[in-house]
Amino acid sequence: MMAALVAAFVGQTALVYADGTADRTPPLSELALEGRRIWHANNCQACHQIYGFGGFLGPDLTNAGARMTTERLTEILTDGNAQMPAFGMNEDQIAAIEQFLIELDKTGVGVPRANLPPEPQRVFDACAEHAKAAPAAVQQGFELFRTACSACHTPLCATPLGPNTAPDLSTVRERLSDEEILKTITEGRLDRGMPAWPLGEPVKTQILPFLTWLGQERASISSVVGETEQSGLPWWEFK
Ligand code: HEC
Ligand code: HEC
Repeated sequence: MMAALVAAFVGQTALVYADGTADRTPPLSELALEGRRIWHANNCQACHQIYGFGGFLGPDLTNAGARMTTERLTEILTDGNAQMPAFGMNEDQIAAIEQFLIELDKTGVGVPRANLPPEPQRVFDACAEHAKAAPAAVQQGFELFRTACSACHTPLCATPLGPNTAPDLSTVRERLSDEEILKTITEGRLDRGMPAWPLGEPVKTQILPFLTWLGQERASISSVVGETEQSGLPWWEFK
């Protein structure tokens, strides 16, 4: 029995040491380790996340190494910016942090807050810009939509609204028929937080053309406002 246990232990140990996965992530260089010490000493993680872990006042820095220039980093680590405090760092400290961020970036991709929808104001600005080239009926529909519907519906993102969530209407033409849309708007779904809008003819002549147009322009509007696909990943997940 003892011999069998020793043999199992030796076998397991051999397997663990033979496992190549540890080699896939090279250790941090001396300079990057220095950067990490500065990171901890200054409590940067109080406001920043790495792989989604950390504070939320500042942005996630897992992949900041890929997007930062030395100039921008120098500016931010000396003078600060908005709510980023001025640390007044010297060149050596900045170089160390920079190396830490560059090597950190190579360890993988952090997708923090992946399911945060874009800012409604930015979406509406992008829609307005696109609508300039649209037919008059679409433009009128957009105006009507902004006046009557935008308190709850934002194209490209579902808006949390109390117990209900007002859905993204840019894809509504794919799931509902004309009749169903007209009925929803004119009669509402009072028990679900959608009020009745007896808007009359303009629902047919303006809102429907607007919604059709919105569906067609969806991709190009979202390319302006950035990533809008909701990944469903909770904020602490990453890949
Ligand atoms: C009190 C909170 C706070 C602390 C502590 C803090 N930061 Fe920041 N940081 C911010 C905020 C807020 C921003 C966004 C500023 C802006 O909008 O330009 C930011 C921006 C940055 C950026 C630019 C990110 C980008 O993608 O543009 C870098 C790099 C950065 N911080 C690094 C650090 C480092 C390194 C430390 C530690 C020495 C640190 N921060 C400590 C709040 C903080
Ligand atoms: C007070 C908030 C509110 C306003 C204002 C509002 N809606 Fe809604 N709407 C909702 C909610 C909540 C739902 C989801 C109802 C459900 O869950 O069935 C909804 C659903 C819909 C749907 C059905 C979507 C689907 O996929 O089933 C359509 C179409 C719609 N609204 C159009 C409009 C239009 C057009 C306007 C403006 C004239 C408007 N809504 C104004 C809250 C609102």
